[in-house]
Amino acid sequence: MTQQTAHPASASQLRCIACGATDDKPGPNFRCSVCGDLLEMAYPGWDSNLPDAAALKRTWHQRHASRLPLDQSGVWRFRELLPAIPDESIITVREGNTPLYGLPCCARIAGVEHLLAKHQGMNPTGSFKDTGMTVAASVAHQHGFRWVACASTGNTSASMAAYAARGGMRSLVLIPEGKVSWGKLSQALDYGAVTCQLKTDFDGCMRVLNEVVQRMPVYLLNSVNPYRIEGQKTAAIELMEQLDWKVPDHVIVPGGNLGNSSALGKAFLEMQQLGLISPLPKISIIQAEGANPLVRAMRENGGRKLVPVQAETAASAIRIGNPASWKKAVRVLEASGGMVEQVSEVEIALAKAEIGVDGIGCEPASAVTLAGLKKLVKQGFVKSGETVVLILTGHLLKDPEFTLKFHRGDLFAGTRHEDEAKILAAEQRPPIVLDATVDAVVHELQKNERLSS
Ligand code: F0G
Repeated sequence: MTQQTAHPASASQLRCIACGATDDKPGPNFRCSVCGDLLEMAYPGWDSNLPDAAALKRTWHQRHASRLPLDQSGVWRFRELLPAIPDESIITVREGNTPLYGLPCCARIAGVEHLLAKHQGMNPTGSFKDTGMTVAASVAHQHGFRWVACASTGNTSASMAAYAARGGMRSLVLIPEGKVSWGKLSQALDYGAVTCQLKTDFDGCMRVLNEVVQRMPVYLLNSVNPYRIEGQKTAAIELMEQLDWKVPDHVIVPGGNLGNSSALGKAFLEMQQLGLISPLPKISIIQAEGANPLVRAMRENGGRKLVPVQAETAASAIRIGNPASWKKAVRVLEASGGMVEQVSEVEIALAKAEIGVDGIGCEPASAVTLAGLKKLVKQGFVKSGETVVLILTGHLLKDPEFTLKFHRGDLFAGTRHEDEAKILAAEQRPPIVLDATVDAVVHELQKNERLSS
């Protein structure tokens, strides 16, 4: 392992987002001991001793050539902007380092010239959760916890179970019964988590877990844990490095529990404070129509109050009605001038198939970004000449059942979306059963060639 570099980030402290109280020893559910609101990581050292932006860029660039595990991690490579954790406590599976792809077909469909996808689904467990988990799980490890726990729609649990196993810790997963894709559930099982399917939704799982952590010495790894947010910041830093520090006009991100949008926003604000970038991108957050509490809050009261909703969407990763980090997300929208938008079930399914046409796979929750972009272009909020980055949060193989049902035309069968879903027919490519003859295959090939010419 590498020598821990002395860096300004070691002067980090937890601070309440509402009353500003600092908290050295947060309680088990990471709420402010004075007012009960969320905590976030602050770096007071930066006020008097700002790290040198050019030197940081050089250091991070040089680490690409290093063989040291921390340098090879796309999270710990940026450790100057993270809280200090002793090297021997760090659990890393070389997370981050995710590609930035062009999406030419989707760009044409959406009506923009420069469309990119930062594919966080290319992380070790197939979702963006790994970037936050490496930091928060390492803190649990550092403090000697035997158990870590989370409530999840699937990806957090898959990631947590992996990092816990790597760090020799046990993990407890609470997931809503029947609402987590098989891909994600199977990951938690394989990595040895005690996996409890509760007869409730994600919000119900969260409520139960908040009580469990008060009673038992388990370390909470949901995104209310501020260390998760710190790790997830690095996707934005890595994105800027990949763009040669040229800030895109727009970053579009899915919204569920609203930790990720908060993390990306925090990263851009900190990069601005440190002089690594100058303008901020507009960060827009897209929710599914059936799980849209932030959209409602912004439209109904300017984001001052969030009324939980009963969430329902086939994009199960973001089936969340009472998002924990909504206040942090509102701050990001306000600071960056981004928009909130909601998209229908059919719009999500169509956008996912369109991303697939570009040869990039993602899970339904990630596809809300393209569906939302199309709306933002129509509204004139995104201009055709602007550069847009979609944050794709999870891998296609997380939820193959959704994709199969889509192509077989079963996704909306018998639902109230059946009529609207007729527009999807042109995108559906169901598997074809044929006799095992050369003629049958050649005939199929010729038929398709005629159709595409
Ligand atoms: N996309 C995917 C693939 C997700 O798994 C999630 C959240 C989100 C988007 C939304 O991110 O919650 O930070 O706003 N999944 C969590 C989980 C809730 O338990 O895996 P968010």
